[in-house]
Amino acid sequence: MGAQRSNGGNVRRLLIVDDEPGVQDVLRFAFKETCEVAVAASADAALDLLVRWPADLVLLDLVMPGRSGLDLLRELSERPARPPVIVLSALGTVSTAVEAMRLGALDYVTKPFEIDALRIKVEHALVRRELEREVERLRFEVHGRTRLGRLIGQSARMQEVFRTLERAAASKATVLVLGESGTGKELVARALHELSPRREAPFVALSCAALPETLIESELFGHERGAFTDAREKKIGRFEAASGGTLFLDEIGELSTTVQAKLLRALQERSIERLGGSGPIPVDVRVVAATHRDLEREVEAGRFREDLFYRIHVLPIGLPPLRERREDIRLLAESHLSRAKAAGERGPDRLTATALAALERYDWPGNVRELENALDRALALAEGEAIDLGDLPEAVVRAERLERLREEIRGGRLTLPEAIARFERECLEEALEAAAGNQTRAAERLGLTRRLMKLTMDRHGIGE
Ligand SMILES: Nc1ncnc2c1ncn2[C@@H]1O[C@H](COP(=O)(O)OP(=O)(O)OP(=O)(O)O)[C@@H](O)[C@H]1O
Ligand SMILES: [Mg+2]
Repeated sequence: MGAQRSNGGNVRRLLIVDDEPGVQDVLRFAFKETCEVAVAASADAALDLLVRWPADLVLLDLVMPGRSGLDLLRELSERPARPPVIVLSALGTVSTAVEAMRLGALDYVTKPFEIDALRIKVEHALVRRELEREVERLRFEVHGRTRLGRLIGQSARMQEVFRTLERAAASKATVLVLGESGTGKELVARALHELSPRREAPFVALSCAALPETLIESELFGHERGAFTDAREKKIGRFEAASGGTLFLDEIGELSTTVQAKLLRALQERSIERLGGSGPIPVDVRVVAATHRDLEREVEAGRFREDLFYRIHVLPIGLPPLRERREDIRLLAESHLSRAKAAGERGPDRLTATALAALERYDWPGNVRELENALDRALALAEGEAIDLGDLPEAVVRAERLERLREEIRGGRLTLPEAIARFERECLEEALEAAAGNQTRAAERLGLTRRLMKLTMDRHGIGE
């Protein structure tokens, strides 16, 4: 078997299509050491076999009973994954050779052939085939990965997001990215641009939350000189700046209804007008919008225009919160740590098993962003060779301690009253810590009267 593999370790499949048993035997013998060889005695048999057994190279006789080799070539040229073909023929006429090459044959050999010369041609063709495969694989890796940007996720939920994303990227329709804070909405918007035919044109982002209403309009649509008091120069808006490319409108739920109306018009008419009146300027822009809000609820509450909602809700992409895809936490954490290491940050690039378990258990209300912040903090604090539980934020550690309490109760190692007492003590300490030792404020946080607070503290021997 070893002899049938190339250096890359792949099996090389050679299909011989010839009706003469003598030729079949000679060829089978010549290549059995270097290839897995199959033989078909007719064009039809070859076509059938190729469906089940994708060959890397076909040696094809032109003159056969039934359909000819040229017929086979013609038929193959319509198939999507067509193997390269070297044509063998006793005819040796130039016109047949030309016709075969025109139909996509790689090379041409006349019978009777020199077996060593044929071996060299076969070897070249197979190497070429392997290189093509390798290029294909690398192209997939480079484009597939970098165009998804830093987006990662092996969970079924994220894989689904990636599939939707690829489909959406090919279209021109407006995409609405929905998800809690820190779930990767901006990364998705960038990936959409990178995967789209617009990737060479600009990607322009604008956060609608960051600006007062008066500024948003001129940011979006630009203004003419003298359009308002401060407009000393003409200004191109983000719509025009994104021409041919993608405009990312982040936190679209924060737009005032006035600006919503203008945005709707721009999307419907595919043109904008600068403030101060320029007349309509056509813009070819693909809009990607994002929000952490429940836009349907905003529509019901009358804060978001229904017509704009339907206009941007064409292709929604919903990003799952991190707590609903815990299997990605390890991957995200490890990739963040190795990125930090590669950027020359101090600190370990590993997690202890305990720390990882705590990360995987925590609920991450701030999602991936919160996870990354927790890791950055841990990197700065960590003394050891790996990030340990103690290096993680209080909230994570506390959740982990609670979970262990639960486990101890389940395992019968702790009674409920003991567990409650421990829990109570932790809550007290936490509230006192948060209130910087001020007992009155700590009591308020816990919903206790000052007197009950004091009693509980005494019971635990705190503050004596
Ligand atoms: N799937 C993911 N893979 C890798 N990194 C991610 C992923 N999702 C989010 N991140 C990282 O988390 C951080 C927050 O992501 P991003 O800014 O895209 O979130 P967002 O949804 O826009 O949040 P916000 O609503 O708070 O603006 C970034 O550092 C981003 O690189
Ligand atoms: Mg964002």
